[in-house]
Amino acid sequence: MDYSFTEQQLALQEKVRAFAEKEVAPISLEMDEKREFSLDLLKKLHTEGYMNIPYGAEYGGAGGDYVDYAIVVEELSRADASTGITLSVHTSLYCSCVDSFGTDEQKEAFLKPALVGGKTGSFGLTEPGAGSDAGGQKTVAVKDGDSYVINGSKIYTTNAAFADYCVVFALTDPEAGTKGISAIIVPLDAPGVKIGANIPRMGICGASNTEVFYEDVKVPVGNLLAEEGKGFKIAMAALDAGRIGVAAQALGIAQGAMDIAVAYVKERKQFGKPIAAFQNTQFKLAEMQMEIDAARCMVYRAASIKSAHQPYGGPAAEAKLFASKTAVDVARAALQMLGGYGYSRKYGIEQKYRDAKITEIYEGTSEVMKMVISGGMRLMG
Ligand code: CAA
Repeated sequence: MDYSFTEQQLALQEKVRAFAEKEVAPISLEMDEKREFSLDLLKKLHTEGYMNIPYGAEYGGAGGDYVDYAIVVEELSRADASTGITLSVHTSLYCSCVDSFGTDEQKEAFLKPALVGGKTGSFGLTEPGAGSDAGGQKTVAVKDGDSYVINGSKIYTTNAAFADYCVVFALTDPEAGTKGISAIIVPLDAPGVKIGANIPRMGICGASNTEVFYEDVKVPVGNLLAEEGKGFKIAMAALDAGRIGVAAQALGIAQGAMDIAVAYVKERKQFGKPIAAFQNTQFKLAEMQMEIDAARCMVYRAASIKSAHQPYGGPAAEAKLFASKTAVDVARAALQMLGGYGYSRKYGIEQKYRDAKITEIYEGTSEVMKMVISGGMRLMG
């Protein structure tokens, strides 16, 4: 197994790292405090070609793979986790649904503008009563002539405040359980779509994360992805891809926390010497480094398996489970190392700790990851 990046991947890593240090890190805390994603940064993510990495050139993709994509998410999240999830939801949830399940016409209308036209995508699955139980949808889409009329509400829709499109999951056959769910592309400027306020929360405060209300929203039947009833499988497939994005985001948060801790222990003196000289500090940093390196192997393993078009849902769930735990553990340990300064906003480590926690929750909790992994082990025969 080859653990090294290619020349091209190293060049991409260098480029995105420089972009993240110049354009993202300096505004991270400001976005966090304002609770608003910078639309100027969003535009740069599009124009610099970071929003279209793992898609073919036919519809304007950069022609990269999921390893390239994970490199981009890791580096952006190392500077700012809100930026990482903004790009990740657009790329591996919205774009992957349209790319994998859309017709040529749908890709021309809804994928190309998202890959090269500066348009942004979102993903409307979670509802107030349908979180881990993604099959428990209440939103309905009723066929009316050449249209679907959508009614319902979604919660925690990342990017909705500024996104142009959303893949919305709705019941077209309420009696059929998960087989009655369909995936429909909804332009978010359609009459009847109402975007709620940014939901107050612990971390990734710079990202847009809102409720979205659909009241008699009419979209053409041509916006249906695949067939009626295929929505649950489309959502599950997108989440497999999305979990590589969240795992890479978690890895970036852990690395960002580690960077802060290493710089701090070299500069901070207590009891007459830099705290880096204490074996307690060295042993703790060694443990943190080991966790990060293990997470990095798992993230890029899952990305490589997906890039090789092999079944990757299990490895993606393992990578997300491990990397998210690593992000929380490393950020907590780094904060502790900085003591009172860690608890303050001065070094940005409390933000990393707050941001880390969400990676254990969204796109499937740690418990859901264990369901996915153990499901693949066929323990029940
Ligand atoms: N790919 C394709 N199909 C899949 C699949 C996959 N990865 N996983 C399951 N399926 C299919 C199954 O084969 C089954 O099909 P059949 O009925 O034809 O056999 C069907 O889907 C139902 O499967 P299950 O019985 O396993 O489904 P379940 O209801 O027990 O759910 C679950 C399993 C893993 C818990 C799933 O509900 C899940 O992943 N929940 C978490 C949802 C989630 O991550 N929500 C948050 C998403 S969005 C978000 O976080 C906000 C944001 O913007 C970032």
